[in-house]
Amino acid sequence: MSHLANKIADQTAVVGVVGLGYVGLPLAVGFGKIGYCIIGVDLSIDKVNQLNNGSSYIPDVPSAEVKELVETERFKAYTDYAYLTQADVIFICVPTPFDAQKAPDLSYIRAASASIAQILRPNQMIILQSTTFPGTTEEVVLPLLKQTGLVVGQDFFLAFSPERIDPGQVSSPGFDVQNTPKVVGGVTKTCTDLAAAFLAKLTPQVFHVSSPAVAEMCKLLENTFRSVNIALVNELTLLSDRMGVDIWEVIEAAKTKPFGFMPFYPGPGVGGHCIPVDPYYLSWKAREFDFYTKFIELAAEVNGEMPYFTVEKIAQALNRHGKTINKAHILILGVAFKRDIDDARNSPAERVIELLLKAGAGVTFYDPHVPSFKVGGNVFLKEETYIKRIPLTAENLAAADCVAIITDHSSLDYEWIAQHSRILFDSKNVTGRFNHNHPNIVRLGAP
Ligand SMILES: NC(=O)c1ccc[n+]([C@@H]2O[C@H](COP(=O)([O-])OP(=O)(O)OC[C@H]3O[C@@H](n4cnc5c(N)ncnc54)[C@H](O)[C@@H]3O)[C@@H](O)[C@H]2O)c1
Repeated sequence: MSHLANKIADQTAVVGVVGLGYVGLPLAVGFGKIGYCIIGVDLSIDKVNQLNNGSSYIPDVPSAEVKELVETERFKAYTDYAYLTQADVIFICVPTPFDAQKAPDLSYIRAASASIAQILRPNQMIILQSTTFPGTTEEVVLPLLKQTGLVVGQDFFLAFSPERIDPGQVSSPGFDVQNTPKVVGGVTKTCTDLAAAFLAKLTPQVFHVSSPAVAEMCKLLENTFRSVNIALVNELTLLSDRMGVDIWEVIEAAKTKPFGFMPFYPGPGVGGHCIPVDPYYLSWKAREFDFYTKFIELAAEVNGEMPYFTVEKIAQALNRHGKTINKAHILILGVAFKRDIDDARNSPAERVIELLLKAGAGVTFYDPHVPSFKVGGNVFLKEETYIKRIPLTAENLAAADCVAIITDHSSLDYEWIAQHSRILFDSKNVTGRFNHNHPNIVRLGAP
């Protein structure tokens, strides 16, 4: 232990990062920028090659930063775990999706842990960062590492520390891996202390908790909190639609209360790999304890209705202009799952487009950050279909029967878009400022 503690104290520890995606790469570069040598491992040869050529595929990580680390020999990526024998601290940042029945898919964590077990040596510390249900570190990762015969808390150290990164920093301007507080819980107290000491090199605030399960549940509380509050505001949006009340104005008014209120906003659905996924990890695990997480299920149900409501509003808007959704041409603006990012995984645009296609509409899209987008291959739309991406021109806007804003990227000129669109459906209130000048604008949640 003192060997690892010394390396942490004198900043000579070598950092390994397994899974160089939206979470792993910013973490690797964050430690690289403060002077550590990084060994990255990812199964994608394309990603490994790109990084070793000094180029980044994550918008929040500038290529110049990767290039500098590669050129100064402080970062090298591999597909082979064997190189991780040199690492003192290894972060696991692999995906935790769910399967078709919304059960947790821990195969990536299992595979990464089994591969680490092959190279595990005394004095190494493993920190799991992937979001997962309480118990994963001790019930899934630890048994695989223990097969080496090494003893946790003595020979090697194991902790869970959730990642709180917000790609694109949409709701967290100014926060990154270096200034967002970390929570950490180790399998033993020594594990917690060592992991916290190491994380404190990156970020000044590290909060110790008594077990990995507390740290795992902490992350799920954070994301469930968002999911439930978004669902609340989405439900009130459905109500205000019936009542003819502008929900956006209601939220602006409520926001003036300086305490006891935090604004959440409605939209065409929740997307990405956190809010629509993580709460299910908790509800799945809860069933093992004969417990049903009603809030989580209810929030998922309400949020899951929003793409259907969105399509209904588009159909009503077309109807008012004497058109039917069948054969209408809908131009979707924004398919990323949130503003100013390129990540379109689990995007609400997916279900909205599937429902539009199923109803007989023709759909094209434009997204400044997403070059290609496919939907289908499921019960909603059997065939997988690539949606045609078209340039954002006045002619293309005018040619669409309805232009539908699904993601509110900040680089688009919405007033110009409104001028050229026959019907502009706005699910994000980006036209709230000027919509009174344009009778062709229909806003979600507003009369
Ligand atoms: N993206 C976010 O905003 C965010 C925020 C907080 C937490 N998380 C959590 O962090 C974890 C990672 O998410 P992400 O968005 O970075 O995923 P990602 O898909 O962007 O990156 C994961 C990487 O892991 C690699 N990989 C898969 N299996 C591997 C294996 N066995 N060995 C080595 N590499 C492997 C993939 O090739 C990929 O590059 C998930 O649990 C996610 O829920 C994500």
